[in-house]
Amino acid sequence: MNLILLGPPGAGKGTQAKILQDRYGVAQISTGDMLRAEVKAGTEIGLKAKSVMDAGGLVSDEIIIAMLANRIAQPDCVRGFILDGFPRTVPQASALDDMLGGKGLHLDAVIELRVDDAALTERIAGRFTCAKCGAGYHDSFHPTAVAGVCDKCGSTEFIRRADDKRETVAARLKAYHTQTAPILPHYAGLGRLRTVDGMADMAEVTRHLTEVLDHV
Ligand code: AP5
Repeated sequence: MNLILLGPPGAGKGTQAKILQDRYGVAQISTGDMLRAEVKAGTEIGLKAKSVMDAGGLVSDEIIIAMLANRIAQPDCVRGFILDGFPRTVPQASALDDMLGGKGLHLDAVIELRVDDAALTERIAGRFTCAKCGAGYHDSFHPTAVAGVCDKCGSTEFIRRADDKRETVAARLKAYHTQTAPILPHYAGLGRLRTVDGMADMAEVTRHLTEVLDHV
């Protein structure tokens, strides 16, 4: 199964993609996570991406498309993949069409998670992640069972993203509405686009997503 999860920052793409990858046995591909790994490793891509990400803008199509082409060629993508954070521009969507066409692959679904901007800011401001295993949490909506201890691995170290400051979130939302939302009609035209209400609680969103995916 090849799926795109679309939606603004904080819509729940990463949260749901992690759940769906286990359920369907496919690879989660987050271009944001890949870029943060490049930044952490201090690579040439990471150095170019850091200032753009910190300002809430989009990294160049050239870098992202090359990174994605390399990633979907990896063996763990043979059973399929969930794209989380890609494509984000019209040229990225066109490049993906070409990449998939060249491999004889197709998209099974493109799902837009729709969430109000006000809710997004609250979600992003409360987000934190385990520094050891990457499990995601939220101060109010998904706290750890024991305060300060990761439910999954027991680590006591957590990180908050540099681009989750309120002023940067505003820039990220603007980038979504001006540069990413225009790809929605492309997928609607191909008859692939479905919309799921991302305002519901996490379990309810998962239920709606699996209802769609169990029938593709
Ligand atoms: P990226 O890492 O992709 O960030 P994003 O799209 O802004 O999305 P987020 O990771 O912030 O949100 P999410 O939808 O995954 O929500 P989450 O599940 O965490 O990109 C970062 C940057 O990298 C970009 O700004 C750009 O600079 C660059 N970049 C990446 N890809 C690029 C590309 N293709 N082209 C160019 N540049 C690129 O949920 C958020 C919080 O809400 C969590 O705390 C969670 O617990 C909580 N939550 C989730 N669901 C619910 C719910 N239903 N109810 C209540 N709380 C919920």
